[in-house]
Amino acid sequence: MRRYLIHTFGCQMNVHDSLRIEEVLSASGYAATEAPETADLIVFNTCSIREKADHKLRSAVGTFRELKEQKRDLVMVVAGCMAQQRGQALLDEVDLVDVVIGPDNIAELPALIGHVRGGGPPIARTEFDLDAPSFLQAHASRQRREVSSYVTVMKGCDERCTFCIVPYTRGSERYRTSDEIVAEVRRLCEAGVREVTLLGQTVNSWHEPHEPITRDRPSRFAWLLERIAREVPELGRLRYTSPHPRHVTPELVAAHAQLAVLPAHVHLPVQSGSDRVLRMMLRRYRRADFLEAAAALHAARPGFTLSTDIIVGFPGETEEDFQATLSLVREAGFVSVFAFKYSPRPHTPALRLGDTVSEEIKTERLARLFEVADAQQAAHLQSLLGRSLEVLLEGRSKTDAQRMTGRSERHEIVHVSIPPGVAKQELQGELVRVRCVEANKRSLVAELLEPPRAPSAARIPNPLPTAKSGLRLPLLPS
Ligand code: SAH
Ligand code: F3S
Repeated sequence: MRRYLIHTFGCQMNVHDSLRIEEVLSASGYAATEAPETADLIVFNTCSIREKADHKLRSAVGTFRELKEQKRDLVMVVAGCMAQQRGQALLDEVDLVDVVIGPDNIAELPALIGHVRGGGPPIARTEFDLDAPSFLQAHASRQRREVSSYVTVMKGCDERCTFCIVPYTRGSERYRTSDEIVAEVRRLCEAGVREVTLLGQTVNSWHEPHEPITRDRPSRFAWLLERIAREVPELGRLRYTSPHPRHVTPELVAAHAQLAVLPAHVHLPVQSGSDRVLRMMLRRYRRADFLEAAAALHAARPGFTLSTDIIVGFPGETEEDFQATLSLVREAGFVSVFAFKYSPRPHTPALRLGDTVSEEIKTERLARLFEVADAQQAAHLQSLLGRSLEVLLEGRSKTDAQRMTGRSERHEIVHVSIPPGVAKQELQGELVRVRCVEANKRSLVAELLEPPRAPSAARIPNPLPTAKSGLRLPLLPS
C-alpha cells in the first residue's frame, strides 16, 4: 500500500482542507504515515495570509531533498493558498515539486498523481469552480470517534479588505444550499460527531445560492443556524468561524439568546480600533458599530465572551490609532486576541500605501497589545474559579493520564479530572458539568460534577422570531 504524509500550514480552513485531502487519498488506496522515509507522497498544504509563506514552503520542501533524490518515485504536492496564488510558477521555481493543486481542485489529486507516476511532466491545476461550485464534505468515521467536525457553508470572499490576499487565493464568494448543509450536519451527527463548526471566510453573510443578489441583501445566517438546531436536535454544539462584523444582524444576536446549541462565545475579527485605519482597510464598519455589536452579543447570554483578530502596523497607523485599538480591546472586553504584524501581500490594494510602520514599532505595538490582552484573559479565567461549566470532552489529556481535555461553552480549554473507575473512552464526545478548580495561563482545570448528559430535547430551541427583533444594530457599510 502507498503511504502519504501531509504538512499543514495556517488556518482552520486549511485544517479542514487537509482532512478532505486525506479522505481523497484514502479513497484511492493511500494510508497515512508519520515517517517521511516510508512515504510515497508528501503534501504541503500552504497558507499565504502572512509573510514568509514562500520561505516556509521552500524550507519545508528542502528538508526532503535528500529523500527525493534517493526515492525517485516520491511525489511532492503543493496545495492550498500558495499553490493557488503561484500556480505553474511554483513548479518552475521549486524544482522538487511534482504537483501544484488549488483548493477547488482537491478531488482531482489522484488523477494528477497518476499523471506524474505515469511519467508525465510536473503539473499545476488551479481552476476556481465559479460556475458550478462543489464543496468539500466531511466524512466522520465511527472508528475514529470524531467529536468535532467542520462543515463548509460558503467559500471565497468578496470583501476585499485592502490587506488581505484571500480574495485572490480563494476566489469570489460561492454559497452552499441549506439543504446540503443540514444533510451534512445530520450525517456527521449520525456518525457520532457532537460539535460542528460552520466554516466560511465571511461565514455569517450566508444566504441560499439562488437568492437574488440585491445591494442590501440580508444575511440569512441566523435562519440557517435555527434550521440546523431544529432539524438536527441531537447536535451538541454548533459553532461558526469567521463572522464579519458587518453581518452581525439583530437576528444573529437573537439566535445566541435563544438557541442553546450555540456557544456563549464568538470569534469576531475587528482588525483595528481606529476609524481612520478601518476605513483604509475597507472593513466597512466603524469602531462604534463594532462596539455596539459586541455589547449586543454580550447582552444576549450571561457570561458571553468575544475573541478577535487584530493587525498592528497597518500602513499609516499612528500611535494615536494604535491607542484606539488598545482602548477598543478594553472596551469590547476580548478574552483572547490573535494579533499579527501587518505584512504586505501580493496583489492587495494596501501595497500602494507602502509598509510605513517600522519593524521595531510593529514589534513594540504587538507586545503592548499582548500585555493588555493577556491581562484580560488571565482576569477572565480567574473569574471562572469555583464556577460550573459545561464541557464537551474531546479526548485524553496529553499531559495527565487522570484527565480528559475538552472545551467549555465559551471555548475555553478545560482539563477535567476523571475519578478512578470511570472509563475515559466512554466519556469522549460527552457534554459534562464540571466545576472549575484552577486557572492556568491559557486553560482551566476542573472536576467532574455529575455524570454526562445525554443529548436531549432540552437542546431543541425555541423558534426564532421571524419579525425583526427590537435590537438596534446599524452595521451597514459606512
Ligand atoms: N475571514 C477570514 C480571515 C482570514 S485571514 C477568516 O475566516 O478567518 C485571518 C487573519 O489574518 C485576519 O483576520 C487578519 O487579522 C490576519 N491577516 C490577514 N492578512 C494579513 C496581512 N496582510 N498582514 C497581517 N495580518 C493579516
Ligand atoms: Fe480577508 Fe477581509 Fe475577506 S480579512 S478573508 S478580505 S473579510
